[in-house]
Amino acid sequence: MKTFATTIITALIVAAEGVYAFPSTGTTPLRNEASKKDILIGSGAINPMYLNDPEFAAVLANQFNSLSPENEMKWSFINPTKGHYNWDTIDRLVNFAEDNNMVVKGHGLISSCCNPDFLLNITHPTAFRTAMKTHFEAIMHRYDGKIDRWDVVTEALKTQGGGLNNNTFYQVLGPGYIADAFRIARAAAPDAKLFINENLVESLPGKRQELYNLVSSFVAKGVPIDGVALQMHITEVAPKPGVITEMVNSYKALGLEVAIAELDVHTLDNAVETDIYDAVVSEALDAGITDISFWGFTDKHAYTWVQGAKPLMFDQCYKPKSEFYATHAALTNFVNRS
Ligand code: XIL
Repeated sequence: MKTFATTIITALIVAAEGVYAFPSTGTTPLRNEASKKDILIGSGAINPMYLNDPEFAAVLANQFNSLSPENEMKWSFINPTKGHYNWDTIDRLVNFAEDNNMVVKGHGLISSCCNPDFLLNITHPTAFRTAMKTHFEAIMHRYDGKIDRWDVVTEALKTQGGGLNNNTFYQVLGPGYIADAFRIARAAAPDAKLFINENLVESLPGKRQELYNLVSSFVAKGVPIDGVALQMHITEVAPKPGVITEMVNSYKALGLEVAIAELDVHTLDNAVETDIYDAVVSEALDAGITDISFWGFTDKHAYTWVQGAKPLMFDQCYKPKSEFYATHAALTNFVNRS
């Protein structure tokens, strides 16, 4: 009997710089299916250095129609000292996306990690808010027309829920920093979609409610926000069926969108992992989510806290795993059904 492995042939892609070989999936690219229904299917965690590897670049451009950086847009990476910006890394991503007809998702304007000393040393609220405005304007203006959606604040809530994260922004500006950030972002990029990005709400009911309370209070006060980006880093256990749908519906009632920003699955059991990819992607699409990103696509560059886990859809050599086929099937079923 022919094994799956022996049926894998090599595909060629003609990119601007040349012709590269990478393992074929034997089926259509995810982005081809997704685009039939205007769905964004993307890979986040794209460190622009990875593009030096032609196979990486080829699979990324072949399979996905959106991408986002990993850490490179976080404050200390892009703006390590006052007035100095490292544009090269993000420019490279934006150019790659343009060449390959992909959407770029801005990730990391405010994150709990990665804030530079010059910011941490500002203790006066007015000066701190000015620094935030300067930072947002520099980045959002530079990528005006090139990045049309942003994670404005990431991980505002404590990991297990139970209040706001006690980060620098909270310490200097108080709980109002989140609304401030959204107002500054809207003024800097009036046409872009603005998201609050949060983890673990799909598995922690209390935190889910807390996020809803926070976001609905923003809507009530006219704080400019367009949606909730669920990180969806899953460890071992899938979200309870119905939870994604319930979130989509409750935010839709507020006039907001729900996106999945960083899906990956951390377990040593590949069958469980595959089932979770299927369950999450299927429910998300059925619920009306039109923007799904994974936190990377190849186990060659995976970010995991479960030792030995291989959380992504392609193996270290870019061979598609069963997680890829589950995702592809969920997508094609949805596209052909709806
Ligand atoms: C992670 C990166 O992948 C790691 O390289 C870094 O050490 C920590 O941050 N949620 C987020 C992402 O919004 O920015 C995080 O990225 C993963 C969790």
